Amino acid sequence: MSSHNSGRAVFNTKFGAIATTVGSAVGLGNIWRFPYEAGIHGGGAFMICYLCFVFLIGVPLLCAEFCMGRGTRSNIFGAYRSLGGKRISHIAGPLGILASLLILSFYSVVAGWTVEYCLSSLTGALDFSNREAGHGQFVNLTTGWRPLIWTVVFLLTNFLILVSGVTKGIERASNVLMPLLFLLLVAFCVNSFFLPGFEEGIRFLFTPDFSKITSGVLLGAMGQAFFSLSLGLGCMMTYASYFSEKNRLGKTAATTAILDSAVAILAGVIIFPAVFSFNISPEAGPTLVFEVLPYIFNRLPGGMVWSTLFFLLLFLASLTSTVSMSEISITYFCEEKRMSRKRATILSTAIALAGGLLCALSFGAMSDVTIFGMTFFNLFDYLSSNICLPAGGFICSLFAGWWVSRKFISDQLTDHGRYGFGMTGAFIFCLRWLCPAAIFLIFLNSIGLL
Ligand code: PFF
Repeated sequence: MSSHNSGRAVFNTKFGAIATTVGSAVGLGNIWRFPYEAGIHGGGAFMICYLCFVFLIGVPLLCAEFCMGRGTRSNIFGAYRSLGGKRISHIAGPLGILASLLILSFYSVVAGWTVEYCLSSLTGALDFSNREAGHGQFVNLTTGWRPLIWTVVFLLTNFLILVSGVTKGIERASNVLMPLLFLLLVAFCVNSFFLPGFEEGIRFLFTPDFSKITSGVLLGAMGQAFFSLSLGLGCMMTYASYFSEKNRLGKTAATTAILDSAVAILAGVIIFPAVFSFNISPEAGPTLVFEVLPYIFNRLPGGMVWSTLFFLLLFLASLTSTVSMSEISITYFCEEKRMSRKRATILSTAIALAGGLLCALSFGAMSDVTIFGMTFFNLFDYLSSNICLPAGGFICSLFAGWWVSRKFISDQLTDHGRYGFGMTGAFIFCLRWLCPAAIFLIFLNSIGLL
């Protein structure tokens, strides 16, 4: 990243900008959240809804966030305000910041589990030779005081990366690590092929049973699409404010969506054959991946090495995502509240830490404290992914579709006419009608009004 003449940083290369954007999108959402959501919501039915949301709603919204971010070179508040939406900025801004802090809280807990699993693999302490051992070990590792420590360690690492500026290190690291993670996933997929439950797993994931598409499945799949693409909370808007003029926004959005869904599908192809091979319930919820993966590693020659490497990469992939979600509140505190970057980072980290500890305790001492029947962990996840992100996306699509001038959008998509973008009309149609209508109808449906 280098300095731009407006004083804001700009990504050095086109590849760096794409890799960092993909780095934000690819993370625990693909490898941990997608399989467990698909498992709870019936596999194939969820998958098909998820892919429709990614490409019909996600890609247009991603383009809209990119246009607003790069066109205004501003944080989420500033972007809405500069485009004439001062009032709306007071709704979209706080919603985005709230969502980012909620996500950062529970995400850090899961990222903390990856640290625990990585170290336990390294020291040979992981024993996943049978089902009871696997589940017992997960409970052991995620209750008590250890997850609290790892949550703190994770947030401190995130903090250190963030205060050192907008982040050469992360940009460089993403360039190397994301392809490496991808290769590792492909290797594990090949291994899945040899598992006894391969066929059943693949059938579960890819054969849609349309009768299973309920309002819960639709809401879950929409939430997952938003979460996975880091959409609806101004994250991609903030990142795009660091893009140079050279970045082609439509292409960047399509590349991000394709790679992001590819990683989620690879994760599904790795997890579900193992789920059926080892007789684990696909509906296990947030613990699914952590219970299943070590069985896979145990079967592999040199399993501990694979396991250590995998959890290390997953930890780093989580960091590239948390750095991006932290940027939302940090740029807001810096640019709107005139705080120094260091103070802004301390404030965001402190809030996430308080939330993170509540979420970590949800698996231990506070497991029976529930609000609306959900632990803090589940509540933060549900509220952010299924409510705040789609609501943010709803506002963004209406705003970019109806309020922002068509010329502004088209100038951003074509770099002021330097290259073609043949789909501006379809794109505006999606923003004006398709995205808001779909989000609205799914909301109505999920609260039983439709
Ligand atoms: N997209 C990330 C993932 O799939 O792990 C999670 C995420 C990152 C959500 C950044 C929101 C965000 F602003």
